[in-house]
Amino acid sequence: MFNHLSQLPADPILGLLSAFRADNNPNKIDLGVGVYKDEAGHTPVLQVVKEAEVRLLRSEESKAYIGPAGAAGFNAAIQQLALGAGHVVLADNRVRSVQTPGGCGALRVMAELIQRAKKGATIWMSDPTWVNHIPLFGSAGLQIKSYPYYDRDSSKLHFDAMVETLKKVGEGDLVLLHACCHNPSGADLSREQWQVLAKIAQKQGFTPIVDMAYQGFGDSLEEDVYGLRLLAASVPEMLLAVSCSKNFGLYRERVGMAMVLYSDGAAADRGQSQLTNVVRENYSMPPSHGAAIVESILTDAGLRANWEAELIEMRERINGLREGLVGRLKDAGAAKDFDFIRHQKGMFSFLGINPEQVHKLQRDYSIYMVDSSRINIAGLSETNMTYFCRALAAVIE
Ligand code: LMR
Repeated sequence: MFNHLSQLPADPILGLLSAFRADNNPNKIDLGVGVYKDEAGHTPVLQVVKEAEVRLLRSEESKAYIGPAGAAGFNAAIQQLALGAGHVVLADNRVRSVQTPGGCGALRVMAELIQRAKKGATIWMSDPTWVNHIPLFGSAGLQIKSYPYYDRDSSKLHFDAMVETLKKVGEGDLVLLHACCHNPSGADLSREQWQVLAKIAQKQGFTPIVDMAYQGFGDSLEEDVYGLRLLAASVPEMLLAVSCSKNFGLYRERVGMAMVLYSDGAAADRGQSQLTNVVRENYSMPPSHGAAIVESILTDAGLRANWEAELIEMRERINGLREGLVGRLKDAGAAKDFDFIRHQKGMFSFLGINPEQVHKLQRDYSIYMVDSSRINIAGLSETNMTYFCRALAAVIE
């Protein structure tokens, strides 16, 4: 049965991990997969997560099934973190959600819900977008189109072109947006640009679908959700995928949430019955442990304060690295202005070098990044920064 299956190439992001591990160069640098790293290059378990886990071990009384929607307390806590407790759509009882195995799980179940509502619907994605967005939605049967977003030549947002395209997108189509810390470009929309976008969504009648994997990594927990809160208040229907991988450091625990905003409470109940049915058909119900950690952190004032402090520390380290990188590249005599990196947000930026130069960095210097030249800023440190900057300057000279 399986003999005829062909060998697929490694995943463009995850495939870098094995190549990096196999490299014996002591100076090797991993700027590939998007995980936060500290100065020592480790991805630590947050202190607050350790504390919550200790409490959980003491208090957990059962491992019985939690059901397809996951824990109600987790869903409520994440809805409030994303939308704000007082958001009008919560008061209007128009929101339903399911706890999912990570942000990918959320995107996938939402894709299947969309398929049930409108088979083969078109979803518009930013050019570029996170590489896994395309197969996640495409393999569920949705049609993929793209809108201009980031201009690689000028290293700037292509907002006018984005607006021009979205003004032609109509009712029945979906538009995928990144809430903050755009992956892979790091180029985010300003408040004014979100306002323009919300007006276009309202006028055109398309359905926004927001992917939020980095709340708190951009400017702050509140500022990073400005756009999605505005959109939720402006349109009748919207979808939101949340990941807790980065901001709680819970990558392998697979914690996420798929949230759908419906036009009224009755539609919300019907939609939720479909969404939980999608979950049941796929993996029956989500794993509990990671979401229970998040719920206990968000519902305990002390733990929450500790989490926010650790989150600020991660964000400030990345922002410091952005500043440092721009300065060091200048010092290394790099034949390109990298100032744009200082203004971008979150874990990623494009260096804007070509695939040949990316391969040269890997081959000659053991510096690993995605072919598109996206780097994970958090993979840099005081220790490896000079080596990295000299190597990059040499490759682009
Ligand atoms: C990334 O973009 O590197 C992360 O979101 C990890 C992944 O699964 O691709």
